[in-house]
Amino acid sequence: MNRPELITSVAGMQEASRKTRGRGTIGLVPTMGALHEGHLSLVRAAREICDSVVVSIFVNPAQFGPHEDFERYPRALQSDVDQLEREGVASVFAPSVEEMYPDGESTFIEVSGVGDRLDGRSRPGHFRGVATVVAKLFNIVMPDLAFFGQKDAAQVAVLRAMVRDLNFPLKLMICPTVRERDGLALSSRNRYLTDAQRAQARVLYRALLAAQTEAVGGARDAAELRGVMLHELEREPGVRIDYAEVVDPDTLLPVEDIGRGVLLAVAAWVGKTRLIDNLLLPEMRERS
Ligand code: PAJ
Repeated sequence: MNRPELITSVAGMQEASRKTRGRGTIGLVPTMGALHEGHLSLVRAAREICDSVVVSIFVNPAQFGPHEDFERYPRALQSDVDQLEREGVASVFAPSVEEMYPDGESTFIEVSGVGDRLDGRSRPGHFRGVATVVAKLFNIVMPDLAFFGQKDAAQVAVLRAMVRDLNFPLKLMICPTVRERDGLALSSRNRYLTDAQRAQARVLYRALLAAQTEAVGGARDAAELRGVMLHELEREPGVRIDYAEVVDPDTLLPVEDIGRGVLLAVAAWVGKTRLIDNLLLPEMRERS
């Protein structure tokens, strides 16, 4: 395998993309690095259908709140590039903060409504930072397809709205959540957990599964499913609930009836680590 080309300047990335564009499709996988199998599943999906794949690695300060973990967020550029080499990635775009925000930050993309719900409500300004950096990455890499994980369901809703509203000429590809054997969704933040907290963290997926089981058993009332998730989460004393919601996957607004397909979404603090998870329930047909 060839070592991926490591590009750190915006001009260098735009130049490389301009050259590649005529020769086939470009797939972009935006990440904040510290890559795990969840990230790599996006890379593999991109490799399968795109002629050339760019992975961006940038810990974006604009999407972290003042008391969040920007400083201690894991950074592992060399081992990330090693992994991407094994995946056959053509280019890694890893700019510095100064390169991405040379004059500080002044122009923002705000997806109002959707951007203020779920994680947007708990982390004010978070999705403004996400939407802004992703729009910048789209303009820098100029991909035909961009790959994101269902793991961050609210992020998906925000980016879908942004791409639609601002007419970005590209397609979003959403890939399924990759989990540990016991169900915990892979996340760069899992490495903050102690062994005891790691065991407690399983409750997020357990809560989602409990609600799904209710739905499969015939429950249609969103409030009932929400109650099931809260009940399950409350049984784990080390865990502090941020939200447990049953919402429309596109608007992120609460629904009353789950018949048309819904997103079950949970967020909780395990010690000082905030974890999120979700499950999409498909449209449920009435039983005859
Ligand atoms: P990051 O948390 O590094 O995630 C990068 C991509 O990997 C996101 O699309 C995320 O949904 C996906 N991902 C993470 N864990 C996953 C899992 N267990 N299964 C499947 N996909 C998973 O999300 C971000 O970075 C940033 O907000 C970013 C979009 C890069 C903008 O800064």
